[in-house]
Amino acid sequence: MCGLIGYIGNNAVAQTLLDGLKNLEYRGYDSAGIALNDNNEIDVFKAKGKLNNLFEVISNHQNQVQSSHVGIGHIRWATHGKATVENAHPHLSNDKKLVLVHNGIIENYQELRARLEKEGFVFHSQTDTETAVHLIDKEYKTCANLEQAVIKAVKQLEGAFAFCIMHKDEPDKIIAVRKNAPLIIGLGDNENFIASDIPAVLGKVQKIIHLNDGELAIVKQNSVEVKDLNGNLINKEIEEIGFNPEVISKAGYKHFMLKEINEQPAIIRKIVQEHLSDEAIVWGKLPCTLNLEKIQNISIIACGTSLHAAMFAQNLWEDWLQIPVHVEAASEYIYRKNITSENTLFIGISQSGETADTITAVKQAKEKGAQILILTNREDSSIVRYGDCVVPLQAGIEVSVAATKSYTAQLAALYWMGLYFAEQKTSISANQLAVLKQNLTELPAKMEEILSNSTAAQNLAQKLTSYSDLVYIGRGINLASALEGALKLKEISYINANAYAAGELKHGPIALLDENMPVIAILGPGVTFAKMISNCEEAKARNAKVIAVLPLHSDIKEGLFDTCLFTPQTDETTFPMLANIQLQLLAYYTADALGREVDQPRNLAKSVTVE
Ligand code: F6R
Repeated sequence: MCGLIGYIGNNAVAQTLLDGLKNLEYRGYDSAGIALNDNNEIDVFKAKGKLNNLFEVISNHQNQVQSSHVGIGHIRWATHGKATVENAHPHLSNDKKLVLVHNGIIENYQELRARLEKEGFVFHSQTDTETAVHLIDKEYKTCANLEQAVIKAVKQLEGAFAFCIMHKDEPDKIIAVRKNAPLIIGLGDNENFIASDIPAVLGKVQKIIHLNDGELAIVKQNSVEVKDLNGNLINKEIEEIGFNPEVISKAGYKHFMLKEINEQPAIIRKIVQEHLSDEAIVWGKLPCTLNLEKIQNISIIACGTSLHAAMFAQNLWEDWLQIPVHVEAASEYIYRKNITSENTLFIGISQSGETADTITAVKQAKEKGAQILILTNREDSSIVRYGDCVVPLQAGIEVSVAATKSYTAQLAALYWMGLYFAEQKTSISANQLAVLKQNLTELPAKMEEILSNSTAAQNLAQKLTSYSDLVYIGRGINLASALEGALKLKEISYINANAYAAGELKHGPIALLDENMPVIAILGPGVTFAKMISNCEEAKARNAKVIAVLPLHSDIKEGLFDTCLFTPQTDETTFPMLANIQLQLLAYYTADALGREVDQPRNLAKSVTVE
């Protein structure tokens, strides 16, 4: 949540900051701002709304932004205070000499603010962030330099923060510091960067340093020093950036989301090659260090789309492993007395690896002695450090805020991991194992078949634009498909879409159904198919239009469905990965037909670093 950047070097600072922020827009887009330290004064430029508005503000001040060689920038996802110019970062001290940008939430800000106001500091925003500016400014007055003032101030802050801080009187540096919020330093030639995430520096530098919690960096044009909060120097590992700049280009697609939907077959092919090409299932490049003998139950905790992936795994794993698998939203798990123990395999799924709720849940489970497995798309993310074992998704950077390829990669990863555990436990027969492996192996070609002809999804999308409410239903392993389909549609089209366990429809939600409330039914093959047909009949009897997502050549009564989105034939366990592609296409084309900003839906951000 929120993205920040800092730059010190000889390139045009304002433009460099804006370029970096452009690649961080997935972190928020409620407002944006930059501050430049140009020796004489700190200039701050801010705009409400998307980054383009800030571009306009800056283009009207071209002569003012020329002379600086150091600056910081921010893109905001509002938490404390509305998306206004006053609340936009950077925030300035009262004497206008100290300026900072912040990602995170300062939990004790009210108490600090009251104290600072009593001491005469004047606040201009409703943000928690402004407290930090005045606190550092206060300490600066009694400290030898900015570095010491920052150290003294951040020790008084509770919550999460990543800061970039500049002072007019120390124009040769930016100070960066973090606790529970990501921050990297990009090392260039005669220039250095600070950023929330790698996309901000892709194509600009090859080498980076990851800051850890409680570390502070003094970033100058030709040097970077990292220290702990006692001022001791830390020798940091310098890492090569593993991504190629092309991952953040649309490659000719209208939106990143469509590009990412189309990348899915290649991702699954790579996963299959890495894990299923040998006779025994291969765990992957990072070793499986879990003590499998000890595991008596499994808990999988996640949020949003990742939670739907967990529900998919629950259906497969309880069958394959014959042990209880508990699935829960991280934000609920953390407030509940639970039975996590040292016999629990606790799995945290987070594509971004920065979701605060999931990180907190993982920390709690670790304290209870559970073995921790992390499934993430970002091997460099915060959640990774709590894992006894980490499984990288390898889906590549996902720019669209709505998750697509990371979800499919999660499903495929949970599929092969389940087979791996089952093989180790010999809880399924060799025959069944071989069939299941084959099913996953055949999936990429079947996904390509769906993607090569999206006409049915496009036509249906046109029709959906005239509805304001929809219902999705699914059963068993496809309840997750229904939930994910509804989530995708509502988050990018803003059509109200609710998903129900199909069997629950008759216990209340059926009252909603009439000709204005279409029902999208996910009819996977296998044990739930016949019951799903009955539920569709019930919906049809209430005049609802019924849309089916189902395998080609399924045995269905003529006239039951108003529209069908077909998948190639497949088995019960892999069908959700194909149905999901049809549902993603449907959501995408509906949102696009409605003229929505598909890649950056309102009110959302890609990594949610607040609880
Ligand atoms: C929806 C979406 C979100 C995320 C959720 C968890 O398209 O992307 O629901 O799945 O915010 O994010 P991660 O997986 O990064 O923990």
